[in-house]
Amino acid sequence: MVGPVIDVHTHVVPPGWPDLGSPEDLWLRRDSPATATVMQGDREFRRITDACWNADTRLADMDADGIDVQVVLPTPVFFGYDREPADAVRVAGIFNDLTLEVTAQAPDRLIPFCQVPLQDPDAACRELDRCLQAGHRGVEIGNHVRDRDLDDAGVLMFLQHCAAQDVPVFVHPWDMDRTARTDPWMLEWLVSMPAETQLSLLHLALSGAFDRLPDSLRIGFAHGGGSFAYWAGRADNAWHARRDLVGADSENPPSHYASRVYVDSVVFSGASLDVLLDVHGPERVVLGSDYPYPLGERPAGAVIRGAHVSDDVRQRLLSTNAEHFLRPPVR
Ligand code: CO
Repeated sequence: MVGPVIDVHTHVVPPGWPDLGSPEDLWLRRDSPATATVMQGDREFRRITDACWNADTRLADMDADGIDVQVVLPTPVFFGYDREPADAVRVAGIFNDLTLEVTAQAPDRLIPFCQVPLQDPDAACRELDRCLQAGHRGVEIGNHVRDRDLDDAGVLMFLQHCAAQDVPVFVHPWDMDRTARTDPWMLEWLVSMPAETQLSLLHLALSGAFDRLPDSLRIGFAHGGGSFAYWAGRADNAWHARRDLVGADSENPPSHYASRVYVDSVVFSGASLDVLLDVHGPERVVLGSDYPYPLGERPAGAVIRGAHVSDDVRQRLLSTNAEHFLRPPVR
């Protein structure tokens, strides 16, 4: 094995998260020294452990799992895309600065990605630039801003800025539509979440956004790109056979753009990993775990280590591809 084993999909919740001042705001209820609950008003959103904020706990788990480096991403519920822009700038800044306090404890092993107030693309660009100066190495964005998807003009302007700054972008699904039908059994997470990512990839493909974005944009998608890879054939068939119905604005069918994006390996099955390798290519799949959340992979990287792939491909999936995704910006 040459090079570090890199997990590109882990999350942080900063320990010193403040009271933001309104009853609906997210706040952290400390339940014990090593546990807390993320609260939305008086509703429990998620119980978490100190793995979310304690670098020592993270490093011990990384050592146990054979992970050398983690990309440390914001937790999407903190994005704040519903806030007024000025307030969103304030909250993103708090989150991003607190994240650096966690990753600074192991700067060679914990790589911070910032969040941005994407509802205001100009402010998002400014916050990204500020964070890069402060030590962040990339940015995580949600896959939509209310009804605006990734092909929204403002979001595309932000992605163009990321490409110009040579900064990697990680797209995480979030803010799924809650219905009575997805309420039981975590179906919101098991069904709606992968569909969200597929929806965003198809927006980028069918709108022609990929035709306009530079090839140099490094953009990755969580959970193996959601439902996209498995259903790329259906979307391609629609593009080829029924453009009269689909009305696509892209120069190529959706699967053509699969090699433009990175997808992580949080798919829990060798068969699913094979689909990713086939659709996106062995240069585009990177180790991700969703650490430390309950639907994440432990040990991190298990599906890659157990996959029936050549040593060369395994090396790519564990390390080389992520090094390309993360490579330090050219300045
Ligand atoms: Co995640």
